[in-house]
Amino acid sequence: MSRFMHIFKCQVLLEPIGEPMQVVIDANENVNGTLVLPVWEGSDGIASGNDNGINRILKNQIDSVLQSGDFTGKAGSKMTLAGTEGGKALLIGLGKSGKTTVQDMREAGAGVVAARGKIHGNTLTVRFNGMSNADMAAFVEGMLLRDYSYDVYKTQNEDDEDKGPITVHVSCEAEKAEELKAATEVSAAVAKGVHLARDLGNAPPNDLYPMAYAEQAMEFASDFDNVNVKVINYDEAISMGMGGLVGVGMGSARKPCIVIFELNGDKPGPSPCIVGKGITFDTGGISLKPPASMDEMKYDMHGSATTFGVMKALAESGWDQRVIGVSCMAENMPSSNAQRPGDVIKTYSGKTVEVLNTDAEGRLVLSDGLWYTGTHLNPSYIIDLATLTGACVVALGHEASGLWSNDDELLNNIKEAGERCGEIAWPMPLFKAFEKEMTDSKIADVRNLGAGRWGGSNTAAAFLKQFIPNKEGTEEQIPWAHLDIAGTAWGAKTNKLVKTGATGIHVRTLHHLITGQ
Ligand code: BES
Ligand code: MN
Ligand code: ZN
Repeated sequence: MSRFMHIFKCQVLLEPIGEPMQVVIDANENVNGTLVLPVWEGSDGIASGNDNGINRILKNQIDSVLQSGDFTGKAGSKMTLAGTEGGKALLIGLGKSGKTTVQDMREAGAGVVAARGKIHGNTLTVRFNGMSNADMAAFVEGMLLRDYSYDVYKTQNEDDEDKGPITVHVSCEAEKAEELKAATEVSAAVAKGVHLARDLGNAPPNDLYPMAYAEQAMEFASDFDNVNVKVINYDEAISMGMGGLVGVGMGSARKPCIVIFELNGDKPGPSPCIVGKGITFDTGGISLKPPASMDEMKYDMHGSATTFGVMKALAESGWDQRVIGVSCMAENMPSSNAQRPGDVIKTYSGKTVEVLNTDAEGRLVLSDGLWYTGTHLNPSYIIDLATLTGACVVALGHEASGLWSNDDELLNNIKEAGERCGEIAWPMPLFKAFEKEMTDSKIADVRNLGAGRWGGSNTAAAFLKQFIPNKEGTEEQIPWAHLDIAGTAWGAKTNKLVKTGATGIHVRTLHHLITGQ
């Protein structure tokens, strides 16, 4: 353990406050707390069979706003009914029946949590009727995912009642209940992984530095019999020749490390390997970034946050096959001991890199993490996630992650998994010209900066491709895909499943890709 450890020991527990939402699927006809009623557009009253146990006054009130057209059920619309002795209700518009997607249902469910506020308290009863299992499951999933806020550093007030855990009673037709229950259990397990990824992405960089991440990973491993965590610390990285990781991390007093998660290590490989960029703060290094929004560069470790989140989601949902996660952790700081533009480093692969811009640091830490994964961890495929380039945000905005791959089947599988989860991954090219641009350094094997600024997210991907080893005994690379999540990991205002901050992007995509659940 680093001798700086005691100085930087977290002052504040990085533990989320409060408990996750409890979802109880029951055929119980009572209404507990506020009645939440999902309503298809154009409904003119409570669906028959849906009114059991609802107080007459409340039922009349609901029928009246539906019949009068005061509440139309348009997608995204909500209405609170209160003030009578009949109890409270929250109407949630679903849009036109037959015209909606599962993502619409997730967003409708998220809308319940967003609209809850003090008036509705912490107990809700959702009454589904005439909805498919897929739609109901997505609605519940949306509630679970949206039930998150990062309050670790806020002093709690005694009277913050609406901060307490939410209990949701869900009822539907009896013959659908078993399937909904099973789907809800998976969603609740995966949501724990998503929320962990958000916690890590939101954590301030003074408390979440590379070895603090490693400690949290080791704590996670101690909670599960089938999880192992191994840490390659700074000294080991130096002696192993990980010049990319060391070059980036050496300028900080908080030294870099690689964290390797192994789930079900007793099961045979080859296995999926997820690799994450984990820059706990990116100042740009000597190629210093401008001050505006530099604070947001705490989320430059969201690739590693997603990696950790996926491992958590898999462990919580009881996945029983081998899966590997590798997080490349470093802090990119300017200092007398920082690497310089002009330095040439030797990476773990043996290839040398000319560092032309110290702000292109993500690719350097990943070069070592990818090569290590390919040569030591027996991958069936490698997927890396990184907040790698501003250029990717220019290309795709906050709506999609960029997706590059050397394998069409892997690319299509990731694209489909992303679509299924409402986390779009959009194919981008790995043209030979980009690889050429990145390998024409005058003095080294590879350069870390493109010749110009054009196609910056593509040249970054082409750089990474240089560090994917071939399958043993062949001339063919290991199947690999790269997700640039710079635009999707943070501040996506159109992402209705997140209130603010880190999104936990692609925990669900990868859980679905790996497990099919
Ligand atoms: N972490 C940044 C990329 C980034 C930018 C993420 C904005 C999220 C929002 C990365 O390390 C970086 O600085 N990339 C440079 C690369 C350039 C120097 C080739 C960039 O995008 O400007
Ligand atoms: Mn950078
Ligand atoms: Zn960065």
